[in-house]
Amino acid sequence: MTENVFYQAPSVTRTARERLNGHRAIVIWFTGLSGAGKTTLANALEAELHRQGRRTLVLDGDNVRQGLCSDLGFSAKDRHENLRRVGEMARMTMEAGVITLAAFISPFEEDRARVRDIVGPENLFEIYVRCPLAVCETRDVKGLYRKARQGEISHFTGVSAPYEEPTSAHLVLDTSVLSASECVGRMLESLQSRLALPGG
Ligand code: ADX
Repeated sequence: MTENVFYQAPSVTRTARERLNGHRAIVIWFTGLSGAGKTTLANALEAELHRQGRRTLVLDGDNVRQGLCSDLGFSAKDRHENLRRVGEMARMTMEAGVITLAAFISPFEEDRARVRDIVGPENLFEIYVRCPLAVCETRDVKGLYRKARQGEISHFTGVSAPYEEPTSAHLVLDTSVLSASECVGRMLESLQSRLALPGG
């Protein structure tokens, strides 16, 4: 399908945009069960980066699924397409010089590997927001685990659909043990060198 289309080079490069912004642009990818705290941590980290004067954007599964991906459900095939689109979008916002924080369950290693390919492994910082299923289920902020257990929702991650734990995340944060502010501290520490422009 891409046979007769041609890459058009931009006049303003990502490097030029990064220089203007005073920081590098990367994609920070949060994966984990529903209720593990991906959105909370992405929003808390974004607030801190914004306070520091950095350009940021959060892409969140629940929000993206109400717009760009509103035609998709939760079968493995639909999640695959959801994450392909999000990976492409994250690449575009990163190319625009924006630190892009993406919070998606992204339960399959194959899909996470594809995001890595789309974005470029050197541009991706993967965070596994780990939290035992029992704790997520007790929190049940959206009431979805209860519905899934009652059979009102199918293909629910952790209940009737699998979650493949990442084995090579750059950072693992256990939100059943760490507070949100402790997690933000750890993220900032690990990201500092990744966000610095070459040469300071
Ligand atoms: S992903 O698997 O394709 O990465 P995504 O992060 O976009 O999922 O969407 C997950 C959100 O959709 C959850 O936070 C939850 O609110 C909602 N949701 C609705 N149905 C399901 C389901 N069957 N499995 C998981 N999440 C669901």
